[in-house]
Amino acid sequence: MNILITGGAGFIGSNLVRWMLQKHPDNLIVNVDKLTYAGNLENLEDCEQLPNYRFVRGDIADGGLIKSVFQEYRFDVVINCAAESHVDRSIVGSSEFARTNIVGTNVLLELAKEFSLKKFVQVSTDEVYGSLGATGKFTENTPIHPNSPYSASKAAADFLALSYHHTFGIPVVVTRCSNNYGPFQFPEKLIPLMIANAMQDKKLPVYGDGLNVRDWIHVEDHCEAIDTVAQRGKEGELYNVGGNSERANIDVVKLVLRYLGKPESLISFVRDRLGHDRRYAIDSSKIQRDLGWKPRRVFEHGLEETVKWYVSNSGWWKRIISGEYQEYYKKMYEER
Ligand code: NAD
Ligand code: TYD
Repeated sequence: MNILITGGAGFIGSNLVRWMLQKHPDNLIVNVDKLTYAGNLENLEDCEQLPNYRFVRGDIADGGLIKSVFQEYRFDVVINCAAESHVDRSIVGSSEFARTNIVGTNVLLELAKEFSLKKFVQVSTDEVYGSLGATGKFTENTPIHPNSPYSASKAAADFLALSYHHTFGIPVVVTRCSNNYGPFQFPEKLIPLMIANAMQDKKLPVYGDGLNVRDWIHVEDHCEAIDTVAQRGKEGELYNVGGNSERANIDVVKLVLRYLGKPESLISFVRDRLGHDRRYAIDSSKIQRDLGWKPRRVFEHGLEETVKWYVSNSGWWKRIISGEYQEYYKKMYEER
């Protein structure tokens, strides 16, 4: 099979590309990524030479270019991971979120209409459901209530994708996953930012009272869920994916400090994020029951392993902080 993974140079995308190359060596994996600030081809350095991997630099909102990629590879499966993904950036300015997350998804869906696919997996987020109170979990039947420009753009993309199933019979499946952690996460998100700051003895900025809750899942568990849904997900369905690991932000930050042997005095409570969602928690019983997937990692073990990865790979995030990572594409692709 020929599989398109968009956004494959990002955090989840690069872990997914590696996962698919390892689990399904007979498939061809084509990674189309615009290489925004969040795209880093260094994430896939170990995959570059594999015969069943291709990289194409491209914007999913550029219909002409993406059509030429579809013509060349005649995909069986499309997995759309490309997105603007950071809530704080969407609060500063949301136009790129509308362009990539909504228009880009629409371009892919239009091409799915033209080229027949076996599956179109729209990788989405639990943030489309909005915020929970102290109790309860999001199920697939929870009404959509996105609160940030990021989650609103993802919700729009989910609805577009599902409408293409209903109207045109495109084999769309939508996954809605909780907060991921693991290797290669861009150091603007909570866990890698806290690790990098603590390693440099910088302050760790915790928003508000630090009691906002997220349901953490290891990125490899998420990759396995996406792979499962791509193979066996029922067309037109939504699947929630979660790690069953609800933790308050402050507890996550304290654990990071403990694993690094750094003092809690580095914690600094700062002004809260605008419109900050209080709590997310996922009920993933549908994918567990219907498709036999379940999360494998225990959060504390996965987090400790992740902290060790950032310690052993400090060059990776230091090259991001210095901006040097953006030279990699030029060296590997343009200057050859
Ligand atoms: P990321 O920001 O790390 O990576 C996004 C990737 O998309 C980057 O490589 C970037 O260059 C690429 N990209 C951006 N705009 C593009 C465009 N117009 N055309 C082609 N490529 C483009 O994001 P992530 O955390 O890996 O998230 C991947 C997907 O998973 C997103 O759709 C996100 O909404 C979803 N998701 C993320 C999480 C999480 O915790 N990180 C949880 C649930 C769902
Ligand atoms: P983040 O990693 O940005 O993911 P999301 O907003 O998509 O859940 O943030 C996770 C939680 O951590 C969220 O409640 C906001 C909080 N947070 C901080 O307290 N400080 C920070 O510097 C960041 C980036 C996030």
